[in-house]
Amino acid sequence: MTSTASAERIRNLGLTHRPRRLRRSPAMRDLVRETRLAPETFVHPLFVCSGDGVRREVPSMPGVFQLSVDEAANEAAAAGQDGIKAVLLFGLPEDKDDAGSAAYDPDAPVQAAARAIKRAAPGLLVVTDVCLCEYTAHGHCGILEGEEIVNDATVELLARTAVSHAEAGADIVAPSDMMDGRVGAIREALDAAGFGDTAIMSYAAKYCSAYYGPFRDAADSAPAFGDRRTHQMDPANVEEALREVALDLEEGADIVMVKPAVHYLDVISRVKQEFNAPLAAYHVSGEYAMLKAAARNGWIDEQRAMLECLTAIRRAGADIIITYYAREAARLLG
Ligand code: PBG
Ligand code: ZN
Repeated sequence: MTSTASAERIRNLGLTHRPRRLRRSPAMRDLVRETRLAPETFVHPLFVCSGDGVRREVPSMPGVFQLSVDEAANEAAAAGQDGIKAVLLFGLPEDKDDAGSAAYDPDAPVQAAARAIKRAAPGLLVVTDVCLCEYTAHGHCGILEGEEIVNDATVELLARTAVSHAEAGADIVAPSDMMDGRVGAIREALDAAGFGDTAIMSYAAKYCSAYYGPFRDAADSAPAFGDRRTHQMDPANVEEALREVALDLEEGADIVMVKPAVHYLDVISRVKQEFNAPLAAYHVSGEYAMLKAAARNGWIDEQRAMLECLTAIRRAGADIIITYYAREAARLLG
């Protein structure tokens, strides 16, 4: 058989199904794409400190800064210009103590930033992280008795913190502590204080992950001893994640979250399928830092890798993505 004859035969295979038909051109690929990224589904995290004109880059998170309240307001407004609808605030208090009292101080950085952002960009949603680890001298997420984090006393302080964030203008409070019963207690406290319309986004399935390392530099929140295994979830478990999500929804969570994201795509997928509730996924500091580090070494194409990660998170079922790439991705898509 001549080579022309074999080419002829290949052309005439008479294949009914040729999946490549739909991959032939950019327009065709755009037409049939199943998952689309959109800036309005991104949440942009901000680390807020006291002072004025402060913009301190976090060494392990290139492109992420600790910002004073004035700078945080500018940054939030700029993110709004990029098409982003929500920022997530973390606080770096001036003083820490054993009760984490700066968490519910009306003049602490998060509360001040919530007010400033509402003035600078009234349409932007302010989400506040509710936990004590940034505010306790020992860096744990709750009140200690000896070396044990005591649940119920901690929950009371979390509820108090959530109310103080709502008073400052937060639209959504996001408890990240993983104490039992905190969503119900926060809902009750918000309602009692007249904040029935303040939503709760619970870190429902938050795993005890090595990928929070850079965040703990950014927020100065590493525990002085021990770890977070007695409240955050074991990475080996997924059925337990479903039970955690069920509890938080029963207690009144409006949005549930899975965290981290890329190593937990199966969890995202299961939660979306079983509950069909608004679902957020947190592409965390370590996930961001890995991409940045590899890109800086010239080992990966950062833009492609970032878009691939964010697309995978959406494809798995997340409605909302919290990511340090929010502005970069929004600008690329816009
Ligand atoms: C506070 C909190 C943490 C993160 C969000 N809220 C750190 C932790 O649990 O130690 C991690 C976010 C990230 O790594 O980007 N509890
Ligand atoms: Zn914490």
